[in-house]
Amino acid sequence: METSMELQATGSDVIRLTDVGKVFLADDVETRALSHVSVSIREGEYVAIGGPSGCGKSTLLSVMGLLDAPTSGEVVICGESTNTLGQKGRAALRNRAIGYVFQDFNLIGDLTVFQNVELPLFYRGVSAARRRESVDAALEKVSMSHRSRHFPGQLSGGQQQRVAVARAIVGEPTILLADEPTGNLDSANAEAVMEILDRLHEGGATICMVTHDPRYSNRAGRVIDMFDGRVVMDPVA
Ligand SMILES: Nc1ncnc2c1ncn2[C@@H]1O[C@H](COP(=O)(O)OP(=O)(O)OP(=O)(O)O)[C@@H](O)[C@H]1O
Ligand SMILES: [Mg+2]
Repeated sequence: METSMELQATGSDVIRLTDVGKVFLADDVETRALSHVSVSIREGEYVAIGGPSGCGKSTLLSVMGLLDAPTSGEVVICGESTNTLGQKGRAALRNRAIGYVFQDFNLIGDLTVFQNVELPLFYRGVSAARRRESVDAALEKVSMSHRSRHFPGQLSGGQQQRVAVARAIVGEPTILLADEPTGNLDSANAEAVMEILDRLHEGGATICMVTHDPRYSNRAGRVIDMFDGRVVMDPVA
């Protein structure tokens, strides 16, 4: 606990959202998913985002992770303003700065565990030898080295999520974003994934995780609460 407090006290902002709004338009129905959200996350922090279903947690995380663009406001990642970036610029910044873990793992079924984890490095043009080294190290961190030649369909949910964490961290991103990473797991597998996140954080990783579960949000150094598209509680704000 003390270590994480020390880490939280240092570092510059790796994510800065200022007055962010997001409106979805589907079949002439407007949904305001985010309203006036301003949140900054510093290097080395472990942040949990909570709040009821539909309050905008996933939308917020995907805006932070450059998977979705806001309707208004500014998003700055690692000091770089993303508002003026084109598709290619956003993809390049995302590949370099962001690791993303989804509730439903999102592994590619016809690639092996090794190939799934290798993918972000492949897009980045890393040499085969360095890819192997990094993939081996990432699989080691999640205790999945022994399964590198298997396909996702041959693994349990917990194992698949560990592989997804390896894929998210293989490129040593500046920040790891996780949207309910334990949502599809039983409690033993959820605990294993949470322990991996704890270890990554102790090693200096910056983590922002969405979770409904207070058992898991309590492990983070800072808990942000959302309601109806707004941040209603943030100890740092
Ligand atoms: N692609 C979309 N098109 C239209 N509306 C959307 C879209 N994505 C999200 N929404 C709406 O935006 C609001 C926020 O959704 P979001 O998925 O961010 O909630 P959440 O807090 O993650 O909920 P949950 O805990 O159930 O995952 C909801 O009203 C949702 O219906
Ligand atoms: Mg969600």
